[in-house]
Amino acid sequence: MKVILDILSEKFATAFEKAGYSAEYGRCVVSNRPDLCEFQCNGAMACAKAYKKAPIMIANEVVAQLPDDGTFTKVEAVAPGFINIIIADKMLNDYLNEMAVSEKNGFEPKSIGKTAVIDYGGANVAKPLHVGHLRPAIIGESVKRLLAYDGYQTIGDAHLGDWGTPIGLIFTEMQVRTPDLVFFDENYTGEYPAECPVTLKELEEIYPFASAKSKEDEEYRAKARQAVFELQQGRRGYRALWERIMDISKADLKKNYSSLNVFFELWYGESDSDPYIMPMIEDMKKQGIAKISEGALVVDVKEESDNKEMPPCMLLKSDGAVGYDSTDLATIVQRMKDFAPQKIIYVVDKRQGLHFEQVFRAVRKAGIVGEDTDLIFLGNGTMNGKDGKPFKTRDGGVLRLEALVKDVRDHVAEKMADRDLSAEEKDEIARKVGLAALKYGDLSNAATKDYIFDLEKFTSFEGNTGPYILYTMVRIKSILEKYSAVTGIDTDEVLKKAANGEIKLSDTDGNDSEKKLKLQISQFAINIAQAVAEIAPHKVCSFLFDLSNCFNSFYHENKIVSEENEDKRNGFIALICLTLKLLENGIELLGIEAPEKM
Ligand code: ARG
Repeated sequence: MKVILDILSEKFATAFEKAGYSAEYGRCVVSNRPDLCEFQCNGAMACAKAYKKAPIMIANEVVAQLPDDGTFTKVEAVAPGFINIIIADKMLNDYLNEMAVSEKNGFEPKSIGKTAVIDYGGANVAKPLHVGHLRPAIIGESVKRLLAYDGYQTIGDAHLGDWGTPIGLIFTEMQVRTPDLVFFDENYTGEYPAECPVTLKELEEIYPFASAKSKEDEEYRAKARQAVFELQQGRRGYRALWERIMDISKADLKKNYSSLNVFFELWYGESDSDPYIMPMIEDMKKQGIAKISEGALVVDVKEESDNKEMPPCMLLKSDGAVGYDSTDLATIVQRMKDFAPQKIIYVVDKRQGLHFEQVFRAVRKAGIVGEDTDLIFLGNGTMNGKDGKPFKTRDGGVLRLEALVKDVRDHVAEKMADRDLSAEEKDEIARKVGLAALKYGDLSNAATKDYIFDLEKFTSFEGNTGPYILYTMVRIKSILEKYSAVTGIDTDEVLKKAANGEIKLSDTDGNDSEKKLKLQISQFAINIAQAVAEIAPHKVCSFLFDLSNCFNSFYHENKIVSEENEDKRNGFIALICLTLKLLENGIELLGIEAPEKM
């Protein structure tokens, strides 16, 4: 179905033409002066330049040419040449009725047949998921859902950090503590034990310990590097130990990510790019773009126009090991081969911007990625504490993601403590609302911006928060229940009837709050299209917040279930069912779930 702006724009395009001007000036936009009008057409301003005529004259001529077909209540040319538009309730009612039965409520996917890979995990094996991985996970999941809504086949990849220094450090420290492990015995030729010789808990202690030690101890550091190298070269015992650690780590990460409602289609790691590295390097050598520099093998990615430092991309370190650059490069080779995507999107801390710029330049230079594929770095800002610095635990340590999720959930649970609900219900509410508070608090900020984590604000049932959106949804559901009690039609049945057009908006003019709600609803497709085009989940949040506000004003100013005129009451029910549906669509795009009660 058509987007409402296109319907208006077409009418204006025709009017411009009839008045003797080019149709291109007919573009209409949502009003930026809602106090004056609902939509506006500013085409006369640009048209005036091209036709060397006063804009107000053109605007008046265009208005005179508009059809008298019931689309508009009022169209007015105002100085210096804007056209202010108020559309008719009838037109909106029809439009919303069509939206209600349309598959995606009026949104038309534009990317069917295209593929997008989204890289938004980045958790490091053997290290617990910490707050730093929260934003990529939350934003990435939403980006994936948005693109899928637009028709993309989407592939989310966890891209675990499993092939670099941390693993080397862990091996080195384990070798100090438990040197007799068969995994370390170079002469061993038998089967390795299936069981992982360390627990996650032990790993969580081992890694930071080893990391600190390596900073002081050169020899230790060299050993860790050597361990990585040997692992990459395929030393049997190391590979086996690595696999055991991967198994327990992945299982734990899966649990943690899914508790955030974050899922991946692929659980690949940096290591999965390994088979692609050497052939890629050979090819770069053949092309003459790989060169030796200070003992390492690199690709230059500097461009003349650069006015900042642009170090080369590192293919092989001087000791022959592969690092973060090469695994990312080869992962792109792999993704191009497996999926030939139109987009590869990285949701990663914005402080890694330079790394991705180097990588993107190198794969373009090597012809690995052609013009048909966009490489997009969606660098996310950090979640900060009240001190404005990246969020830490009270004692200054790195906060585990699990702990943060639990804190927020507990806070919501406290608020619910004296509510008359069963323990199970309270549990469910605390989990869903807690998660919504955390995710919405994050997603409502533009991805690139830093924001301050504010537990009180995020969990508030008022204001631009996740709980407020959910509360609005629950409120609509409870109205529907009342309606169901009065009419005897089951709520699910009501929703079904509203979605198939059996219950429709009535054809009457409503009060101001009703009109505003309808206008907001009518802009669903426009807002979602914008969020998709800009890869911006925060635009979905703003739409949901505005929609919730419009609904709540409408709710305060109208009797719904007790409305006596049956046609009008049905119309209200259709309107709130559609509101609920859009809120549901929206939170689904954000990866948030709504409880039944609150
Ligand atoms: N593991 C990395 C880190 O913790 C993030 C990985 C991001 N994705 C990528 N393709 N490099 O910093």
